[in-house]
Amino acid sequence: MPEGLIDKIDREHLPRHIAIIMDGNGRWAEEKGQDRLYGHFHGVESVRNIVEGSAELGIEYLTLYAFSTENWDRPQQEVEGLMSLLVETIRKEVPTLNKNHIRLHVIGDLNMLPAFAQAELQEALELTSQNTGLNLIMALSYSSRWELVNAVKNIGQDIKAGKIDPETICQETLQQYLTTSKFPDPELMIRTSGEYRISNFLLYQLAYAELYFTNTRWPDFRKENLYEAIIDFQGRERRFGKTGQQIQEETQLA
Ligand code: IPE
Ligand code: IPE
Ligand code: MG
Repeated sequence: MPEGLIDKIDREHLPRHIAIIMDGNGRWAEEKGQDRLYGHFHGVESVRNIVEGSAELGIEYLTLYAFSTENWDRPQQEVEGLMSLLVETIRKEVPTLNKNHIRLHVIGDLNMLPAFAQAELQEALELTSQNTGLNLIMALSYSSRWELVNAVKNIGQDIKAGKIDPETICQETLQQYLTTSKFPDPELMIRTSGEYRISNFLLYQLAYAELYFTNTRWPDFRKENLYEAIIDFQGRERRFGKTGQQIQEETQLA
């Protein structure tokens, strides 16, 4: 890894929100002749390192896809092992989160989680709720289609209750019914482990995100890899449907 990669980052143009699909734990472990859970266990080290790195840089929002609604269909032993690892880690990390002013958020279908896990999470959310640094958003039992169906259901109920007029529904309305209503859309989405897909992650919110794929397996992903992704992001021209010339003119005026 080249030295001083962090110095190549333009601190004035950081993405406000980075979202990561943390993939490749199972293969990382299998390649070492180990059980898949061994990979998840080591993946936690990467989570710590990337959360720390993001907070140091001054990133405002970091969303980590930790468990999808589809992941419930994995073998029971893996699901149980992974769930207890996630919940235990979150609980144990609360003092460190507080020390670093990190506020924890959770998005996903939490009703699918066992009662004790829901209670542990709730406590961690409350204990970090006053922090004003990095917002760490854990996507747990999350999927975008679940989220969108849920949003439509809630909008339907509010129409029925006379709280909203269907005529006034706009993008802003839908945004308010998503689990991410309090967060800006991610500007950079990273997926590790060499898979080139979204796997039901933030389908609506990623509309204009820059996508970055790396072959590095999640347990090997460290701050330097994050810096590389940010540097790559900063070299791109985000056009939002306009022409390159319009964007260049706007940048000159700013
Ligand atoms: C990512 O690693 C963690 C979760 C999806 C929970 P995987 O467990 O998907 O690892 P691979 O993709 O099988 O290697
Ligand atoms: C996506 O990874 C979900 C998480 C990282 C939590 P998967 O490993 O479940 O995705 P697919 O099955 O390869 O698309
Ligand atoms: Mg995977």
